[in-house]
Amino acid sequence: MQFQRRSFLKSAAAATVWAGSAPAIFSQSNKSGKKLRLGVIGGGGWWAMNILRVALEDGRCECVALCDVDADGLEVSADDVEGITGSLPNQYRDYREMLEKEKLDVVIVSTPDHWHALQTIACLEAGAHVFVEKPTGHTIGESRAMVSAARNAGRVVQVGLHRRIGPHHVSGMKFLKDGGAGKIGMVRCFAHSAGGPEEPTPNEEPPEELDWDMYCGPAPLRPYCRRIHPGGFRNYLDFANGTLGDWGIHWLDQVLWWSGAKYPKSVHCIGGRPIKGPAILTDKEQTSDAPDHQVATYEFDDFTCVWEHRRFAGNEVEKSNVGCYFYGDKGIFHMGWRDGWTFYPSKKGGQTIHEDPKFDNEKDGHNVPPLWADFVDAIEQNRQPVADVEVGHLSTNMSLLGMLSWKLGRSIEWDGEKEIIPGDNEANRLLTRDYRGPWKYPA
Ligand SMILES: NC(=O)c1ccc[n+]([C@@H]2O[C@H](COP(=O)([O-])OP(=O)(O)OC[C@H]3O[C@@H](n4cnc5c(N)ncnc54)[C@H](O)[C@@H]3O)[C@@H](O)[C@H]2O)c1
Repeated sequence: MQFQRRSFLKSAAAATVWAGSAPAIFSQSNKSGKKLRLGVIGGGGWWAMNILRVALEDGRCECVALCDVDADGLEVSADDVEGITGSLPNQYRDYREMLEKEKLDVVIVSTPDHWHALQTIACLEAGAHVFVEKPTGHTIGESRAMVSAARNAGRVVQVGLHRRIGPHHVSGMKFLKDGGAGKIGMVRCFAHSAGGPEEPTPNEEPPEELDWDMYCGPAPLRPYCRRIHPGGFRNYLDFANGTLGDWGIHWLDQVLWWSGAKYPKSVHCIGGRPIKGPAILTDKEQTSDAPDHQVATYEFDDFTCVWEHRRFAGNEVEKSNVGCYFYGDKGIFHMGWRDGWTFYPSKKGGQTIHEDPKFDNEKDGHNVPPLWADFVDAIEQNRQPVADVEVGHLSTNMSLLGMLSWKLGRSIEWDGEKEIIPGDNEANRLLTRDYRGPWKYPA
């Protein structure tokens, strides 16, 4: 296997001689100037390296280990880390082995969504603090189990919702909360992109460097095709929840942040694949299976929220293709991404107010540095971080409840305190999923 490479053999040998401090003294060791031992699961991936570069720049962690089921991506990332720090991290393909051998203080989990819960919980049980990517879980039950595991372990879990701390989001929220747009009666969140019909892709033997069985993990062992990995997993419902699960959580989170609400009372979602075409999965070929558009409505006590996405008909006519509009009795407030925020007053002659965005990473347009700094600060100060696991859980639920209603083809009531759909066994069954053995659904 490709995995038996120079760097891995060297690293694995090094891994066996580790002897370090116990997780319980993270804060002290950090205050005493000792760096936190950091590992990354999904370390060969795009976003993991974005976070890791930020973590190395922050300077309070040392990257001692990377794990990925793709040996090629793993080696490229390990070389990148060596280029930045002068030190080659140990490399693993099984996160359980990494957690056992490395005694990590901090772990970044940036794998496809269906792995977030099991890996985060394993890290917490191994005593590490976790920076996990959104969405928290692939199903609501997994996400709830992550919150419980974090509380039981007494560890910090930051979810990668960098829009909770990005400068224009913070100032825009202040504007809204100070009543700048008046009383808000409705919010519309959206993400639109260009696209067209999807031709099936042939199934293939997984590449030699990829441990496909471990990639699929608790999900069904789907035939491999080159569109899934890297990055394409988002549109395969075995591994993720399409655009609503990917983009939806960022913007629905802004709605919960603004309103202070924890959950909606009812949800209705429709959508399908009229443009991409029917989902295909045979032993010869496959397409993705996430909807190419969806519209979800969320009922709250004193406002209505709508989510819509479309993966076709990209155009320049609509002013913005991603973000959310808050409709108030003083005017319309747009919270955007690369277009910052803008308030359009209803009053004739009123002044439009605008603020440009400010990104720490212009290329990918994100604000991970302040989110990472808040994460390590929270560890040192023994407090909850800004995008605590419960915050991420509630925002993830928004996306997952939409997916649940879409799968059922009807609306659902939501008891957000008990996290059940009252008196609706058919719907409650979708709060969890069957796992492929030997993986066990987290309690
Ligand atoms: N917060 C944000 O704005 C933001 C932006 C992009 C991506 N993300 C999130 O980051 C995560 C990764 O996305 P990506 O675009 O980098 O995907 P990617 O496919 O580039 O990376 C995922 C990596 O995980 C690896 N992997 C799969 N199963 C594994 C396992 N069992 N153990 C170890 N590694 C495994 C894959 O081989 C791959 O290298 C997703 O959850 C995504 O939602 C968040």
